Parts: sequence; structure tokens; C-alpha cells
Amino acid sequence: MGHIYLTRPLGDVVEQFRQQLPGELRTHYTADFPPSREELLESVRGAEAIISLVTDRIDAEVLDAAGDQLKVVANVAVGYDNIDLGAAAERGVLVTNTPGVLDEAVADLTLALILATTRRVAEGDRFIRTGTEWIWSPEGYVGLDISAGATLGIVGLGRIGMAVAQRAQAFGVKIIATGRRAHDDDARSLGVSPASSLNELLSAADIVSLHCPLTEDTKHLIGAQQLQAMKPGSYLINTARGPLVDEEALADAIESGHLGGAGLDVHEFEPATNPRLRTMDSVVMLPHIGSAGDVTRNEMASLAFRNVVAALNGEKPITAVG
Ligand code: DGY
Repeated sequence: MGHIYLTRPLGDVVEQFRQQLPGELRTHYTADFPPSREELLESVRGAEAIISLVTDRIDAEVLDAAGDQLKVVANVAVGYDNIDLGAAAERGVLVTNTPGVLDEAVADLTLALILATTRRVAEGDRFIRTGTEWIWSPEGYVGLDISAGATLGIVGLGRIGMAVAQRAQAFGVKIIATGRRAHDDDARSLGVSPASSLNELLSAADIVSLHCPLTEDTKHLIGAQQLQAMKPGSYLINTARGPLVDEEALADAIESGHLGGAGLDVHEFEPATNPRLRTMDSVVMLPHIGSAGDVTRNEMASLAFRNVVAALNGEKPITAVG
């Protein structure tokens, strides 16, 4: 039996599963950094399972370095754009992800970013930390009242988008959406109206929030043209994947005053962040922490391990991709 290679330590969950695994579990030594490419290629050699994270590029080279005995790549994330699905399918390697268990955490963070940008929370915090003398002012840090009739546009209404809609409904915002669930009854019961096109959504929304997967088709889904189609003064929120947005075009749209600001948990060239956006007060940037809830991260790890146990025992994984 080959080993199971885990690309980062994942806390207590690992010990819960170690005994259930049919092979030896080998783990990269630090949670702070992923294995280098060389370490990854060396460590997967002879593995029957790889448990990967969004920071690990799992492509044909890695799959071949592992060898023919490799059965499954279990990604500890709902997104799996870091894995070459075609290369995995050609080699008969199963791929699994962790849908469902992080919807609430990502939706919570999306609302945090919506409020942080529209109500200028991070900007106010930065100001206070300068130690500058100040006094309450009727015009100081006035932002968008989302509860006063603002429209939220959810691009890619799936599980996470629905959790965002559920929270947004409590703020009394109007919600429009594109995506596979935009016409569902449960979306309607959350007050979601389907938009007939992305352009319609962009031109109607005060806040546009992205919740679609990154594929070849969705790369730069939001570029210069789409940003121009957005309402003057509106906000862009991205808790999905950085390359959905052309960041230089976004910086132009904010710099010109067309957009009110942006809230970005993910970045086009992660872990690099855009130097222009970093200088803008109306932009809130986070280090990809959408799923970083204590319970959520354990559930993601646990689901990945359960997928590995199933696949190595010849059973159907719980959440196979494709
Ligand atoms: C996901 O699950 O895809 C997240 O982005 C990882 O935190």
C-alpha cells in the first residue's frame, strides 16, 4: 500500500483519521508554507492519495511523479481550479472537493466585506490608528446605507450565493442574481429576482458579489467593459477566485471614480496583491480567509479525509468532482 500525502498539517482532524487510513500518512512539515514544487514532486512519489490545498498546483507532472498507483486527489476546498481535471481523468485518478461545509463561513465573510467597503470600516480603522486628532463630523466617513433600498447583484447563485442572499435579505436589500439557482423556488423565497444577463445585473446593482468557479470561461469575467457597465459609485466584492477579475481594470475603474470601491478576499495573482489597489482607501483586501472559520476548516479537512478513506477502500467518494 502506498502512502497518503497531505500537503499541510491540518490540526486535530488528522489524528481522528490516521487509524482509519489504509496506508501511512505523510505530512508536509509546516502549516505556514506549502511544499515547494520540488518537495511536492518528491513527496507524492508512490502515493495512493494526495490531500491538497488551493496553494498546490496538481497537474500532469505531479500526477506522473506520484505514479500509476495514485487513486485520488482530495482537495481541501470547494474550488478545484488548482487541479488539472483532464489530466486526472486521463490517468483514472479521482478528484474530490469539499462543497457545502464552507457555505456559511464564506457567506459571513462576504457580508463582512460588503459592510466593510460600503460603510468604510477598514478606512475608518486605518484613520484611527494614525493617531490624528478628530471629532465627530456630520460628513465624516459617510457611506452607502445598504438597508435603504440598495440592490445586491449575486453573480453565480449556487450554494454560497444562496447563503449570501439569506443574510442580505435580513438587511432588506433587493437581490438580483445570475447562475444555476437564480430561477429556483427557494431563491424566490429569499427575495431573489433572476437577472436575464450579466450586463443587466451589473447595470442594476449597487453591490456586485462574485460567487462563480474559476474556469477558462470565467477568467476575467469582470474586465474593463463589465466594470464600465456597473452603476456609477457601485462596489465589487470578490470572495470566489481572484482571476475572475482583471485587477488592473478594477484599479482603473476605482481610480477614475466610476466605482465606489471593492472588497477582495482573493487576488488575481495570489499570493501577490495588486500594488495599485493596495494604495486605495476604498478597497478592502483580505488574505483569502473566506473559509477560515474554526469549525469550517475542521469540517473541510474531515470531508477530505472521508473522501480519501472511501476512495482507498474502493467506495464512491462522498463529494467527487465531475
Ligand atoms: C475554497 O474552498 O475554494 C476556498 O477558497 C479555500 O479556502
